[in-house]
Amino acid sequence: MPTVTVLPADIAMETQPGETLLGAAQRLGYTWPTVCGGEGQCRTCYAVIEQGEDALSPVTALEEEASPALAIVARRAGKPVRLACQAVPTGDITVQRSGVRKS
Ligand code: FES
Repeated sequence: MPTVTVLPADIAMETQPGETLLGAAQRLGYTWPTVCGGEGQCRTCYAVIEQGEDALSPVTALEEEASPALAIVARRAGKPVRLACQAVPTGDITVQRSGVRKS
């Protein structure tokens, strides 16, 4: 099972097959910033990919729609950005997302 490390809280989440970053966080009892609850509409759930971009599912149509907003964050971070409610890890990755904490 892929392990997702979430910084800066240094949380390690083991994900299940087909599970998104947001889905794993919620299943494991973590709060992850979201307004739309995982519908791919609010863009609040974005995560900066520190390591393992290739170990994520392909960018979804909803992420394509969000790409102008995500590009601003990515430019600021100097790293790729994905929506946590869309991206499914297929291998170990490390992401940066403030506000992720135990519920
Ligand atoms: S949770 Fe709203 S876009 Fe991901």
